[in-house]
Amino acid sequence: MSAPPVRHWRVAPGGTLSGMLTVPGDKSISHRALMLGALAAGETCITGFLTSDDCLGTARALAALGVRIERPAETEVHVHGRGRGGLAPSSSPLDLGNAGTAMRLMMGVLAPQSFDSTLIGDASLMRRPMERVAEPLRRMGARIETQEGRPPVVIHGTPQLKGLRYSLPVASAQVKSALLLAGLSASGRTELTEPAPSRDHTERMLRAFGVDVAQERGVISLEGGQALRGATVAVPADFSSAAFFIVGAVLAAERPLTLTNIGVNPTRTGLLELLQLMGADIRVLPHTGTIGHNAEPVADIEVRASALRGITVPEALVPLAIDELPVFFIAAAAAQGDTLVRGAGELRVKESDRLAAMAAGLGALGVEHELLPDGLRIRGKADFSGGAIDSLGDHRIAMAFAIAALRARAPLEIADVANVATSFPGFEECARRAGLGLKAL
Ligand code: S3P
Repeated sequence: MSAPPVRHWRVAPGGTLSGMLTVPGDKSISHRALMLGALAAGETCITGFLTSDDCLGTARALAALGVRIERPAETEVHVHGRGRGGLAPSSSPLDLGNAGTAMRLMMGVLAPQSFDSTLIGDASLMRRPMERVAEPLRRMGARIETQEGRPPVVIHGTPQLKGLRYSLPVASAQVKSALLLAGLSASGRTELTEPAPSRDHTERMLRAFGVDVAQERGVISLEGGQALRGATVAVPADFSSAAFFIVGAVLAAERPLTLTNIGVNPTRTGLLELLQLMGADIRVLPHTGTIGHNAEPVADIEVRASALRGITVPEALVPLAIDELPVFFIAAAAAQGDTLVRGAGELRVKESDRLAAMAAGLGALGVEHELLPDGLRIRGKADFSGGAIDSLGDHRIAMAFAIAALRARAPLEIADVANVATSFPGFEECARRAGLGLKAL
């Protein structure tokens, strides 16, 4: 895949947010719906699908493995499942673009196949650690090669995997999901223990596809050999995309801002707890009738402007807010007093080193901070200077700093923003509708 074009934003300082807003579908759930749909017998109908670069990349990879996928409407996808053993080898390496979730989960899908596969991605993905998945998969009998722990990942398909009992060294939904997907085709039981709960979309969705997944006292387990049945998946709007506007509204809502139809799975909404600990006025208005459909709770989220005070972030909330920490750091920078985040070393191996990227950007905006090996200490201030920010091609860094402009005294120039389309196509339009003075250059 060729490198995406480098694009810039200029975001005007100040401004207010208000109104009703919805954001596109959930990225984690969209990836999973495609993959489980491909492995299932029968058809899977997905509504609210996220048509972002990452998820479309997963669809292309599955199509290269012989799966028929149709898109009758912009956000509606039909997957014609291949059933057990139904995938076919791809004639070329599978390019998963910027998507760590796609690469790691596909390792679990492909390890037990009867053919070989090679996984590659863009420059960012080619730098990301893959041994965290490869190593436990090898314990199941898989044959996988990485390049000093990184892609390309070469998978020699091994249909006779065996179940695994394993304690994950890091709380990672991607590792857990890859092992559960491989465990489905293994003989015997796969039992996984997490150091702390991580997002549980795979477990919920497997159940919707007819798989018996147990979860007891932090141990997630399933019996190998279970078949998946095609299902209907209604993808809620992505909490991680809503997060930018939740923080934006806390900083600068003129009237309440309401975000509609947002997925509020408790393994994703740590940011709400963090902001509430800081004094934010956020109300979650649950929808009824959606739970049990594909077992993902959905709500409207109403946010008012509030004065924030700095906090020490409880480490248990870190995995539940992992993708929201960049924009949380902006909230911390606008709070009164110091905020301390530790136990967030995982941020160093995301699409960029998000601790370093956020520290550099906060520095450019005149925010006092201390970069720690596994976190950040941030001294809040009333407003920020303007300045030049390098997003390092990381979608969440770019969007976090767009929100920071609401509290800036001069424009922000944010570089290398094309990858925002990996998770939030239409962000620019959405941000302008909410009240942000954002121009793409
Ligand atoms: C994801 C899990 C998280 C998250 C990523 C999406 C998923 O990664 O950061 O954006 O869909 O499973 P880790 O599993 O590496 O924590």
